[in-house]
Amino acid sequence: MKYTVPQEEIPRRRLNTGDEIPAVGLGTFGSDRYSAAQVAEAVYGGIRGGYRLIDCAAVYQNEAEIGLALERAMGEGMVSREDLFLVSKVWNDMHEEGQVLAACRKSLRDLRLRYLDLYLVHWPFPNYHAPGCGGDSRNPDSRPFSAGEFLSVWRQCEQLVEEGLVRNIGMSNMTIPKLQAVLPQCRIQPAALEMELHPSFQQPELFRFAVEHGIQPIGYCPIGSPSRPERDRASGDIADMEMPEIREIAERHGISPALVCLKWAVQRGQIPIPFSVAEEQYMENLRCAAGDPLTEEEMGKIQRADKNCRLIKGQVFLWPGAEDWRALWDMDGTIAQ
Ligand SMILES: NC(=O)c1ccc[n+]([C@@H]2O[C@H](COP(=O)([O-])OP(=O)(O)OC[C@H]3O[C@@H](n4cnc5c(N)ncnc54)[C@H](OP(=O)(O)O)[C@@H]3O)[C@@H](O)[C@H]2O)c1
Repeated sequence: MKYTVPQEEIPRRRLNTGDEIPAVGLGTFGSDRYSAAQVAEAVYGGIRGGYRLIDCAAVYQNEAEIGLALERAMGEGMVSREDLFLVSKVWNDMHEEGQVLAACRKSLRDLRLRYLDLYLVHWPFPNYHAPGCGGDSRNPDSRPFSAGEFLSVWRQCEQLVEEGLVRNIGMSNMTIPKLQAVLPQCRIQPAALEMELHPSFQQPELFRFAVEHGIQPIGYCPIGSPSRPERDRASGDIADMEMPEIREIAERHGISPALVCLKWAVQRGQIPIPFSVAEEQYMENLRCAAGDPLTEEEMGKIQRADKNCRLIKGQVFLWPGAEDWRALWDMDGTIAQ
């Protein structure tokens, strides 16, 4: 290992529960392209290099291998459990009464943990697709968001906190109308909201809504997910690393465009969770959170470069009769039915 980032150089944030979380983490979705063993090796190497936040999910189909990597890192004395901030998510096919507990226990077993630091509801409806499916794949059982159904999932998540299996709970892929429908009825408010965030898709209103409600945004696809699966590619998608504003700032700082995206994310206040299995890449991704900040002018330039370009459109979660992926995101301010 060429370089380890000292812990004191990695910024941290405080959640509404008082827990601390690193300001940058490591993603673990192999995009149907990297094997579980490769991702697990990156988790081990990442922890050795200084990562403490790892973003996992049952649907990524690699928690068992990541569990071995975590055990190895802890067994070798690199870190103790309390040093790590480990995230997992309940997949859409485990929303029924009693299933969230079963899903959480399975993730804990696979990850070889006694508790998770954060457990997220991966998507706000029980619509699921088979791993590796194509973009046109549809599940006939899919249905629109229902606040009642979501709250029954959330009650189960609250129960996990009470039982000590998870320290924090959060949501993912929500919209403002959906949050407005459920937050008043959440006994435990979400500590974090995982959402797509990168320079060409900044979601300023949702970001602000989360912050104003004391919910920490976690940004996925922080460098524009250049290796995302085919089903998540569409003509017209913008590549963040090709944006002239990003390239110009990268040149000025003598760093790669990917690192400009990550610096912007950390300075804006979201927690980016970049993925890479290449040691050089994942280490520079962590290191860039420390030092050489972007100037205010550069931050403003990136803010103005937003293209409202969602990459993970989620069309495989659509229900019969839904027009297109926009129905998932409540674009007109109301929850699509
Ligand atoms: N909650 C959700 O619904 C949700 C949805 C999507 C993702 N996520 C989470 O967010 C994580 C990150 O998203 P993502 O993996 O889709 O996208 P990403 O982190 O924006 O992009 C990852 C890809 O970027 C390239 N890369 C990484 N570091 C680089 C660097 N320093 N320089 C140049 N290229 C670099 C790599 O491409 P190559 O492999 O081609 O080198 C890597 O595969 C996921 O792994 C997952 O944990 C959550």
